[in-house]
Amino acid sequence: MERQPPEGAAARFPVRRMRRLRRTATMRRLVAETTLSPDDLVAPVFVRQGIDEPVPIGSMPGHVQHTVASLVDEAKHLASLGIPALVLFGVPDTKDAEGSGAWDPDGVVQVALRELRSSLGDAMVLICDLCLDEYTDHGHCGVLRPDGTVDNDATLERYGAVATAQADAGADVVAPSGMMDGQVGAIRSALDQAGHEEVAILAYAAKYASALYGPFRDAVDVTIAAGGDRRGYQQDPRNRREALAEVALDVAEGADMVMVKPALAYLDVVADVARAVDVPVTAYHVSGEYSMVKAAAERGWIDGDAVLLEHVTAIKRAGATAVLTYGAAELARLLGG
Ligand code: PBG
Repeated sequence: MERQPPEGAAARFPVRRMRRLRRTATMRRLVAETTLSPDDLVAPVFVRQGIDEPVPIGSMPGHVQHTVASLVDEAKHLASLGIPALVLFGVPDTKDAEGSGAWDPDGVVQVALRELRSSLGDAMVLICDLCLDEYTDHGHCGVLRPDGTVDNDATLERYGAVATAQADAGADVVAPSGMMDGQVGAIRSALDQAGHEEVAILAYAAKYASALYGPFRDAVDVTIAAGGDRRGYQQDPRNRREALAEVALDVAEGADMVMVKPALAYLDVVADVARAVDVPVTAYHVSGEYSMVKAAAERGWIDGDAVLLEHVTAIKRAGATAVLTYGAAELARLLGG
């Protein structure tokens, strides 16, 4: 049959046929610029002192405060799904002004790390969040001056002690999240002095003072005293270039990997950082980002699995090497891990 001349708009100008490469699922796989695999995921987990049974976290569906025993089971499960790393947070049963539970060799995280290391060997990279806020009675990420502000340099000394305790207990990676100036350098020298040259630092380098951490603060039972906030140490969400300064400092001080946190509202920052540095860039898809998806999905308003996949794929597309996400286990299952 004779070909008909094109009609309408296509007749008036040459049409570039973008849809040819979207025609079949295999074609789309062939041309995909971004891939997501369980290898890209880090699973955040919580361990609580003084409980006999795991305690569900109401604002984070599917997540619990673990006992040491249930944490070990969960870590084995995550490893079986092909997830290479977890990041551990501790919930102590007592808190004090200094947060001394954070560096106590019998503190909850140190006990859990020793168990994880002996049960899992090297089957999972054990990353340990390094901060004081879960351990201080005022809920700040450092020790306070008499006027109630966080004392940067006095806090650095404590961070050095926490890093050493975590490394002694078996951490592969320590991840300082307190946004104190000089924290990476202080931790690197404390680790090296203690003979832990092999322990790596994942710096929460560009961490913003975000309202998206709400569910996490439930998970770790942290309330900041007197209606306080963290704007005196975490970054202002209005700033983009400042993140590059933070990241450059952390890399110069010895960070082996850096993090941008939160992720979705900061994809411009993820992209900037990925271009600027040659170390792996991680992004933290935080508790509020996860719980918003879960809440909308529970109401039937969105397809939670599909949105989770889309969100985490977008974080990788922006330039992240790995993504810390509470959806790690679900995603690994969806990805066939
Ligand atoms: C501080 C810390 C926080 C998170 C990770 N480490 C809370 C904060 O800065 O207030 C938040 C993680 C999340 O929301 O998932 N130790």
